[in-house]
Amino acid sequence: MLFKLTDEQVMIQNMVREFSRKVIGTTASERDRTKEFPADNFKQMGELGLMGMMIPEAYGGESADTVSYVLALSEIAYSCASTSVVMSVQNSIVCESLYRFGTREQKETFLIPLASGEIIGAFALTEPDAGSDPVSQKTTAHRQGDHYIINGTKRFITSGLHSKVVLVTAKTDETVGHKGISCFIVPKETPGMIVGHVEDKMGLRASDTTDLIFENCKVPADLILGKEGDGFKIAMAGLDSGRIGIAAQSYGVAMAAFDAAVKYIKKRKQFGSPVSKHQAVRFQIADMATQIEAAKQLIFSAASLKDRKESYTREASMAKLFASEMVNDITARAIQLHGGYGFTKDYAVERYYRDARVFTIYEGTSEIQRVVISNQVLKDKRKM
Ligand code: CAA
Repeated sequence: MLFKLTDEQVMIQNMVREFSRKVIGTTASERDRTKEFPADNFKQMGELGLMGMMIPEAYGGESADTVSYVLALSEIAYSCASTSVVMSVQNSIVCESLYRFGTREQKETFLIPLASGEIIGAFALTEPDAGSDPVSQKTTAHRQGDHYIINGTKRFITSGLHSKVVLVTAKTDETVGHKGISCFIVPKETPGMIVGHVEDKMGLRASDTTDLIFENCKVPADLILGKEGDGFKIAMAGLDSGRIGIAAQSYGVAMAAFDAAVKYIKKRKQFGSPVSKHQAVRFQIADMATQIEAAKQLIFSAASLKDRKESYTREASMAKLFASEMVNDITARAIQLHGGYGFTKDYAVERYYRDARVFTIYEGTSEIQRVVISNQVLKDKRKM
């Protein structure tokens, strides 16, 4: 392997692997059926320091590096993708945005309980008519004395139902494009924030995805994150980090599907021998292993750049694009290698396939990743 992990990173990986397979994995398919949010698991993950890993200990986190974080997240995704998406949103776009842009008081009030896993957070950017193009969002926040009044509808919000605090973007000035977007910390009990429709999804079924409706929602002015007009940059910076997380999640699910396929082909006999003896099958395994390894290197590359505090927008999008496309291919192949059994609920590969489908869509579609990568490549003086 090109990238050498430190002893501490290996220790974190082993610790999370053991926890994930014993605690998270044993109930994942049941959760996929019942859609039950694994609140107890998140409590335990908080105790293990997995909900705000990259946040300093002073604010309830673990001061871990990004490489350790992607190792941990992919181990959780290996067992349960629903659990891993909540972990990913919490760690990156919620906790890191608060850490980077929050005041000391905001951090003490909101970041400590979030990073320590006492509460779940959400990030509300997307709207019914503003997905890939968040600048066209219609939610507004108008200043009234020492409050802002928020009105609008947010859509596809991960943990919209189970979160206790939501970072919400809204337009404080509708005339200046992205420079008029601001971000607010909105505690769930705030009157005027209503949980709307809860989506019934193809995959990630134990993670809730909802509308959030704002009807004259009155938020104290000191709960603005950063300054007026900082909201778009807060979202973009959060998504850079979030995209490394979705790539790590893709890697974890791909490994689960790959391991399941390898186990199956060694056991399944046709034409008098295990199907793993057939070249048509062996070549597929070779291609799958190569794709997974390539994704891993891109993920480590983006995570290492972030740890070195270098620009990583381009590499995060490359990792997200490649890994999310890769896992869709790997899970489809894993089903094919299981034959008819892969199409049944008796084997986990059908869940992996359904869970993976959204990875090329959320936190920026594959098409948006290509926009980001090409923009970066064409303007960037750094060598490839
Ligand atoms: N970091 C910091 N600032 C950034 C940035 C970044 N990565 N990318 C752009 N910006 C800044 C730019 O510097 C620019 O600022 P200035 O005007 O001061 O120079 C400003 O933002 C506007 O940049 P662009 O002109 O490039 O913006 P754009 O309108 O063309 O959009 C885009 C760019 C890449 C298409 C962006 O809109 C985008 O990423 N869209 C996809 C949105 C997305 O990923 N949504 C996912 C929803 S969240 C989710 O899915 C979470 C979940 O629950 C799982």
